[in-house]
Amino acid sequence: MRQNYKFHFTDGKVTGRIFHLTSYFKRLTSSIIRLTSKNLRLTSNITLLTSYSLLLTFLLSSCASPQKAVPGEKELIVVGFSQVGSESDWRNANTVSMEEAFSTENGYRLILDDAQQKQERQITAIRNFINQGVDYIVLAPITMEGWDTVLTEAKTAGIPVIIVDRMIDTDDPDLFTCWVGSDTHREGSTAAEWMEKNLTGPLNIVHLQGNIGSSPQVGRTEGLDEGLERNADWNLVFRASGDFVQAKGQELMEEVLRKGIDFNVIYAENDNMAYGAIDALKAHDIVPGKDVTIISFDAAHDALKLVLAGELNLDVECNPLHGPRVRALIEQLHSGKTPEKFTYVDEVYFDASNLTEHIISSRGY
Ligand code: AHR
Repeated sequence: MRQNYKFHFTDGKVTGRIFHLTSYFKRLTSSIIRLTSKNLRLTSNITLLTSYSLLLTFLLSSCASPQKAVPGEKELIVVGFSQVGSESDWRNANTVSMEEAFSTENGYRLILDDAQQKQERQITAIRNFINQGVDYIVLAPITMEGWDTVLTEAKTAGIPVIIVDRMIDTDDPDLFTCWVGSDTHREGSTAAEWMEKNLTGPLNIVHLQGNIGSSPQVGRTEGLDEGLERNADWNLVFRASGDFVQAKGQELMEEVLRKGIDFNVIYAENDNMAYGAIDALKAHDIVPGKDVTIISFDAAHDALKLVLAGELNLDVECNPLHGPRVRALIEQLHSGKTPEKFTYVDEVYFDASNLTEHIISSRGY
């Protein structure tokens, strides 16, 4: 533990204002004292005012002071978490999982920063965490590239960095302590193998990609590309990024329909883009899951309902419930142990042959 108090950095503005107010009242107090010596008739009123000012100064100063740990009280472990954004149901489930795992009751103070899908915001958040002297930094990196400089800064500050969900690309593996997440290349291969087993060519594939340069986009695209290489009767008829966002998935699908592209498979790199594509198909009286085979990733609750309803043909799991996994890693580090450098989460897939209501209701997202 480097220090026994921390502020949520979004409190910074409030804290700054309190400091301004404090110094304002300090200046007011000293002006009043000067006036007192010049004008004795005002003394009693001024004394009263001075007392109020001093009291206010004291109260504001105590608000602005860092919270000291109460003696005997367990100190909270402070975790700064840089989250990608809130682009999908998966991401929201992931945020909730982290918030629950790093609760005050569990002995943590979580400083959560939503980067709104911008890498520069994630870099700023990490720098803020370093300035605040958090105990651990957790990063869900939006893209694979571009982390070396800021992670070197964290390393220099002696703050362990845990990478979660997505992978980074770096020549120096010492820039992060450990990683936990999905094997997204495996997810892509699972989908391509399922297509080989379950579909008869020729396949004309519309490919809706996640945000370009993120490890799930790269892994799932590689899985499909390998399938395309293996199967001469698979054709890629459209490929574009919908950034894992539902509205963008729908827009891309509308573009495909408007252009009159001939297709019989949609390979959507997450559930939200699949929902958007399904809405676009329905608006054109195309029956999802029957007229067109739909492949997706994540296996979120609503998507699995669509699998049961026959509107989605395959959903490859990408599990977002990383909170307890990251907490287990931090607990190991905190007790002086060295966790595994890489932890891959076991994941399955769901289609009409193996999914039941009971499975859906027993899942955590
Ligand atoms: O990194 C995990 C991916 O990011 C999920 O597949 C997607 O839904 C999310 O936005």
